[in-house]
Amino acid sequence: MKIACIGAGYVGGPTMAMVALKCPEIEVVVVDINEERIKAWNSEKLPIYEPGLFEVVKECRGRNLFFSTDTKKHVGEADIVFVSVNTPTKTHGIGAGRAADLTYWEGAARLIASVSSSSKIVVEKSTVPVKTAEAIGKVLKRNCLNPDVNFEILSNPEFLAEGTAMEDLKHPDRVLIGGADTPSGQKAIQTLAEVYAHWIPRERILTANLWSAELAKLTANAFLAQRISSINAISALCEATGADVSQVAHAIGTDSRIGGKFLNASVGFGGSCFQKDILNLCYVCESVGLKEVADYWGQVVSMNDYQKQRFVERVIGAMFNTVSGKKIAVYGFAFKKDTGDTRETPAIDVCKGLIRDGAKCCIYDPEVKAEQIFRDLSAPKFEWDRPNYSRSQSHMLENVQVQSDPVAAADGAHAICVLTEWDEFKKYDFAALYEKMVKPAFIFDGRNILDHAKLREIGFITYALGKPLDPFLVKGY
Ligand code: NAI
Repeated sequence: MKIACIGAGYVGGPTMAMVALKCPEIEVVVVDINEERIKAWNSEKLPIYEPGLFEVVKECRGRNLFFSTDTKKHVGEADIVFVSVNTPTKTHGIGAGRAADLTYWEGAARLIASVSSSSKIVVEKSTVPVKTAEAIGKVLKRNCLNPDVNFEILSNPEFLAEGTAMEDLKHPDRVLIGGADTPSGQKAIQTLAEVYAHWIPRERILTANLWSAELAKLTANAFLAQRISSINAISALCEATGADVSQVAHAIGTDSRIGGKFLNASVGFGGSCFQKDILNLCYVCESVGLKEVADYWGQVVSMNDYQKQRFVERVIGAMFNTVSGKKIAVYGFAFKKDTGDTRETPAIDVCKGLIRDGAKCCIYDPEVKAEQIFRDLSAPKFEWDRPNYSRSQSHMLENVQVQSDPVAAADGAHAICVLTEWDEFKKYDFAALYEKMVKPAFIFDGRNILDHAKLREIGFITYALGKPLDPFLVKGY
């Protein structure tokens, strides 16, 4: 059996590496139009950082795992084609800012159709609006010159979380495969299930109809994001009342109906999927006349925007209502720890908010490259999810510095903002940092990872999200 995967990104790369590792008899080729990315996959420095990924790629690369730009050849030869391309939010036209832009998906489908001389199973790995399989089926059928070629479309959404992708792929809670309710559809489901059954217990391989599988992915992300927005909403109330969001989260999380996971208040959720998928869900709801349902889910994104804005206002308010000309050290730019991914990271909106008020942000992140930060802070909204994404002209960048040393970032700064929960931040010598900073020295912990009592002892004015406020931060003091 040969497998091809179109799209060598955060999903295509790790998932196919795991398939290759667990199925040594299957040849797996990951293809992409981005030459630089493929080159990196074939090098010692992979294009994405995930704990454990490099080891797996090293073991399989050249054995039964290959990365190539020769899309036509490898897709043409494959029995199963995974499609794991970007499905960004539309930036213009009908549904702009909400609907999914299926340009790349359709492009992939046209490519598959044009190079296929044998029947194939086409697997939706990208997150797509419900009913996409129907449209893709039409594109495939109408563009394939060989009438004997049959395409069976499956929906097999990916539930991995970045930062723990390899563990998630090795031991997933479940794998979901949706297919047509026809004999050939069911056979295709079984063929794909056989691949996963190499390492995943059968009871964890769920099957469904196509529309349920497509919708399940959007729903899963909407529920996850909703939990974050819910606890973040409560964090604002905690600050206003003197309650402590960690204590509230612990108290509710011990209720087995609620559960303790995903209840950490933070500066906001990020990542390539949550916002995009909820907006997409809202658009689908509106398209079928369910405005109230769309509004309900839309509020999850609004609350997230509010949380980021609230953080910015807290920083500016605390620093005597002006950050103009002040150096602010930003610790962490990735949207969460253990990944170099910055897509929709809350750090973008927070830095932009501070810079708009005149601050000079000095950013340190252990994994994110300077060029990526410049790109993110200069690009228009939603632009990041396109293959040709690059740095734009922007006055924002005049006030951005990227440091590879956290101590230098804090040197001469008025404040430190912690925006990613990297473990190394907990180990810093904050007493030494304090000495290097302008007084009063502020710390704004947007992830609640630091020892706040100790910071106060050192002399920092400390803001911890959703916790009782320092008297210094209470208005009118
Ligand atoms: P990505 O941007 O890292 O990778 C997509 C890749 O597809 C890019 O390298 C791009 O050059 C390539 N591509 C686009 N059009 C192409 C074409 N016609 N031919 C060949 N290559 C093409 O995106 P990522 O994060 O891997 O996401 C892919 C899909 O998976 C999206 O729909 C996303 O919503 C979904 N997803 C992402 C997760 C994540 O954690 N990043 C988790 C679950 C799903």
